[in-house]
Amino acid sequence: MQILRIEGGRRLSGEIGIQGAKNSVLPILSACVLTGGETRLNRCPALSDVYAAFGILSSLGCKCRFSGGIAEIDSRSIGSTEIGDALMRRMRSSIIFMGALLGAAGECVMSFPGGCELGPRPIDMHISALRQLGAVIDEKHGRLICQAPKGLKGTVVNLPFPSVGATENVMLAAVCAEGETVIVNAAREPEIAELGSFLNKCGANVRGAGCHRIVIEGVSRDKLHGCEYTVMPDRIAAATYLCAAAASGGEVNINGARVSDIEAVINVLRQAGCRVCDSDGGVYLSAPAVMNCVNTVRTCPYPGFPTDAQAIVMAALVRSRGMGIFVEDIFENRFRHVDELVRMGADIKTEGKVAVVRGVDKLTGAAVSAPDLRGGAALCVAACAAEGETEVSGVCYIDRGYEAIETTLNALGAKVRRE
Ligand code: EPZ
Repeated sequence: MQILRIEGGRRLSGEIGIQGAKNSVLPILSACVLTGGETRLNRCPALSDVYAAFGILSSLGCKCRFSGGIAEIDSRSIGSTEIGDALMRRMRSSIIFMGALLGAAGECVMSFPGGCELGPRPIDMHISALRQLGAVIDEKHGRLICQAPKGLKGTVVNLPFPSVGATENVMLAAVCAEGETVIVNAAREPEIAELGSFLNKCGANVRGAGCHRIVIEGVSRDKLHGCEYTVMPDRIAAATYLCAAAASGGEVNINGARVSDIEAVINVLRQAGCRVCDSDGGVYLSAPAVMNCVNTVRTCPYPGFPTDAQAIVMAALVRSRGMGIFVEDIFENRFRHVDELVRMGADIKTEGKVAVVRGVDKLTGAAVSAPDLRGGAALCVAACAAEGETEVSGVCYIDRGYEAIETTLNALGAKVRRE
């Protein structure tokens, strides 16, 4: 098991680039099953979740090549519509292949998806929405057997919650469905808008992706083709490096990051005392030596404060003045980083979906364990601000979403060693 050994107490400062977005490239890779043809993805991030998606694509008969940030997927021949258990368990977003395979082949067999333990990760909204499009989905012994005996037919799908994955699954299933599909209460995350743009570049007819109402006009599958596409910058990775600089009282310029993708996070960092601004095609932050803790941070669907940044911003604010409240309204079990931060000297009390943070003067390095992807990144952020050495285990979680996190942090003057 690898660990990251982080020597804290160093003020981070410098300029970095930003990786392609994990949560955008994963649904786009699923979409390749549907669009067929040859697709080239620029700025594809080298992440274990991306390799897991390549594994699924290959098991379905696609050919995948990946080097130097460029992924080439040839999905002209889909030989299978079944995804094995091991592949499904490697990540949560494997469920998005359901909509793509139903749209491409009218059938698929897969098991329940895996993913970080952020609480129960139900897929009831996915299944209910796809059934409204005409899919017949049986759940037997942990496996999902899906068919569309009469094909998929467009309809109005009202999502009870703007679920990112369910929105993506319906979009993929609707691309070749007969007639018009309207998704009401759709997720509005930037990654949804990107999926819509990618599908349209491949010949689909998607309008309103990124808004709460998406209209998809079905097209025949032979109208679809591959394309060349550049993956959007990873907004949560950008938020992570902003927080690492802020936690250490430093400054950072992130080339290629989009302020508009993380307004809610930037707003909190400004309230904490940081100066954050657009810096021609990127984001610049400079932080005070000690930040003020922020009154209330409540996670909600985009454009609200992103749940994926909750642990990361909390880690940046544990060494601060005053008190703050974090309310995790999206996932049931997304405070697993709190105990680890407390081991480093943080003063945090949790009660259900609420965490109360009292700022402390200093954090001390300790041996801590990443509980999940963003919780692991949060521990790295806190370690940059702590005095002494921190040992972060469970690096495999961090590698799911960050391309060589140690390289990027070291480029800002941190001292991180992977062992
Ligand atoms: C996506 O997960 C992201 N993952 C998550 O990022 C992100 O935290 C989440 O959206 C919210 O923004 C990818 O894009 C690969 P949801 P997803 O469906 O689609 C409940 C990261 O760190 N729900 O919007 O799984 C669900 O349990 C990851 O990069 C149902 O109840 O999120 C959760 O409480 C973590 N039934 C809430 O909705 C369903 O059928 C939001 O889930 C589906 C979801």
